[in-house]
Amino acid sequence: MNSSKICLLAIESSCDDTAAAISINNHILCNLVYNQEIHSKYGGVVPELASRAHQSKIVPVVAAALEQSGITKNLLNGIAVTTGPGLQGSLLVGLSFAKSMAQILDIPLIAVNHMQAHVLAHLIDDGSPIPPFPFLCLTVSGGHTQLLVVHSASNMEVLGTTLDDAVGEAFDKSAKILGLPYPGGPLIDQYAKLGNGAKYKFSIPQIEGLNFSFSGIKTQILYFLQQNQMEDSAFIQKNLPDICASIQGIFVEILMKKLIKASKVTGIRHVAISGGVSANSHLRNELQSTGKFMNWKTYIPAFEYCTDNAAMIAITGYYKFLSSDFATFDITPNVSASV
Ligand code: KG4
Ligand code: ZN
Repeated sequence: MNSSKICLLAIESSCDDTAAAISINNHILCNLVYNQEIHSKYGGVVPELASRAHQSKIVPVVAAALEQSGITKNLLNGIAVTTGPGLQGSLLVGLSFAKSMAQILDIPLIAVNHMQAHVLAHLIDDGSPIPPFPFLCLTVSGGHTQLLVVHSASNMEVLGTTLDDAVGEAFDKSAKILGLPYPGGPLIDQYAKLGNGAKYKFSIPQIEGLNFSFSGIKTQILYFLQQNQMEDSAFIQKNLPDICASIQGIFVEILMKKLIKASKVTGIRHVAISGGVSANSHLRNELQSTGKFMNWKTYIPAFEYCTDNAAMIAITGYYKFLSSDFATFDITPNVSASV
């Protein structure tokens, strides 16, 4: 491999997706994700089951990524792996695997922060515009809700975060109350497409500054549904699309209000979203229409780079490789790492 071409294997196993990607510089050759379906029937991720599923899938997923990209192991220049935040057992599977492989191949190990990686997915060269620094990024996932100023690939400033539940968690918990399987966020999105978001009103929590809160709104939704079901036990079945559209509408409104505020406070007009909830169609549409109105340049990741994936680990690994930011082999997972 030409020395100006950095070829990486990237591994992501922080939660319930076993993922591997192969990259050359900022291009992704192959991005594979094995979704662990087993958690659906438990209504949430069961950590012990997640670790076991990673254990059985990691070798086949990595082998398939190498084969599909046409890259042999001896061409790899390094291995990037998520070291946190995430579930301890899940992270251990990916990290142990990456350590062993890097040691056998005698190539650097690169430790990647999962939240930083969600943001840097925007630096992947997939033909879509790449945001210039500094840009604003709203990272919305199952475990996090963060408003950031991205000064560089390695320097991100947190402007605001959630005081309680993450927005993805709020989507999933609302879906659970509605009787939908885990993860409920994408299902709320699907039903909402058929519904009227103005049908049911919820009030926006007044949280100062650029922080968020979703636990109050979740309780509002719970009481609203309990109240209506007392009057009509089939209320949810009869009105599911309108309920989903109204819930999704209030969540997205909360996010957009803070994003507008952050742009006004910082003066930054390059505005991005990232993380699993950035796959939400209403959020994507609202970002585009608000962006036109506010004269922003907006950046929305391709669907495959929204939810957990290893391509985002590869691009982060690439930037760390360029600055020789390598991990030592005694590194352990950091379950609560921040950006
Ligand atoms: O980034 P991610 O894959 O994993 C974490 O790092 O947490 O995000 C997963 C979250 C879940 O809460 C899932 O319900 C939510 O992203 N999600 C969505 C959509 N697709 C995924 N929420 C709303 N609408 C979607 N289309
Ligand atoms: Zn994630």
